[in-house]
Amino acid sequence: MTSRVSSEVVDWQPHAARLADELKAAGKLTAPEWRAAVAAVPRHHLVPAYYQHTPDGWVRIDTACETGLAAVYSNTVLLTAVENIGAGTVIRSSATQPGLMVRMLESLNLRDGQRVLEIGTGTGYNAALMSHRLGDDRVFSVDVEPDLVELARDRLAELGCHPTLVAGDGTAGLPEHAPFDAIIATCAVSAVPWAWVEQTRVGGVILIDLKTAVGAGSLVRLTRIASERAEGRFDPVYAAFMDLRHQAGAAPDQVRVRRDHSDARQRAARLDPRVPWNNLVVWFLASFVLGPGIAHGYTGPDTTRPPTAVWIATSDGSWAEITLTATDHGHAVAEGGPRRLWSILEDSHRQWLDLGEPGWGRFGLTVTPDRQTLWLDQPDSEHTWPVRS
Ligand SMILES: C[S@@+](CC[C@H](N)C(=O)[O-])C[C@H]1O[C@@H](n2cnc3c(N)ncnc32)[C@H](O)[C@@H]1O
Repeated sequence: MTSRVSSEVVDWQPHAARLADELKAAGKLTAPEWRAAVAAVPRHHLVPAYYQHTPDGWVRIDTACETGLAAVYSNTVLLTAVENIGAGTVIRSSATQPGLMVRMLESLNLRDGQRVLEIGTGTGYNAALMSHRLGDDRVFSVDVEPDLVELARDRLAELGCHPTLVAGDGTAGLPEHAPFDAIIATCAVSAVPWAWVEQTRVGGVILIDLKTAVGAGSLVRLTRIASERAEGRFDPVYAAFMDLRHQAGAAPDQVRVRRDHSDARQRAARLDPRVPWNNLVVWFLASFVLGPGIAHGYTGPDTTRPPTAVWIATSDGSWAEITLTATDHGHAVAEGGPRRLWSILEDSHRQWLDLGEPGWGRFGLTVTPDRQTLWLDQPDSEHTWPVRS
């Protein structure tokens, strides 16, 4: 790939080649064709700047300088579209970690001549990698943010690369360009849009980040095994993408947290809260009971000192707070609102132990037009969970 703009003045090739070597050495990149793509795409051209949070606020860093080049050709996620909305900051887009990107691309098992749809164009870097591998006439990508699509289109065109980029809600796929041999989503969905299955040819692959609630879920690779059925397993290694949103510029839904301590039920828990708290598979199992609207965080005297407690809240007004330090009686648990949220997390932890402490790779998903089911070990398992679609 050549570039008429910044790539001419920046000696980026050694950086890109080094990134490819590093990903190979780390075991994230095994196929020569994807190594060639990483070495050939000037990532700094598609990510000319990124944002970093400092004590003084967000700082924009140009990637055509030494620090920026080192960052853009490293296995790092970079925040590329950050906006202040009201009192908060909204991350609209990021450039995914290259190691995660190539791991996902390799797992699609693409062959020459195949056509791919990406949901979440972002910077266009992934579209550039896929175009290098398949040819740009076989790459389609959609992003809900029209300005990002326009920037990606212009920057890709400057590299002589012209995949089909569309602005819109990718939930609907791109029916006018279907069928695809593979669909890859670089934003997380709470259930698989049936349109994505319908637009994948039978035998084709859909690779997505399924998140049934914040942080609850991971990458699942489905094969369309029949016209009315897609099925597959979760990747053994956890991954997380930003949530899909249906409108440009939309801020993520916030769960209203009400902690009315006057009706709190107090008890002590023996289990260290960090044990279920730090186990993402437990969160996943708990999300099927808690529902999608979950908020959680840490409580402490101030942000300069370590937290003293963790808390969860759900949109029905339930909340729980658990101290991180224990007395002789255990960790103090306070639970308020209609449901006992910490008990739900403790139950999910017990369930995970009873199931033999499964990792992500033991879970799988079956998707049909009217039902989506999570299963353990095999589709006809006695352990299944309904995914709300
Ligand atoms: C992690 S970024 C994508 C990174 C990108 N693949 C790259 O190579 O830079 C996720 C992207 O998903 C987009 N997105 C969120 N909701 C979407 C939707 N409904 N349809 C399409 N794209 C969406 C965001 O605007 C954001 O650009």
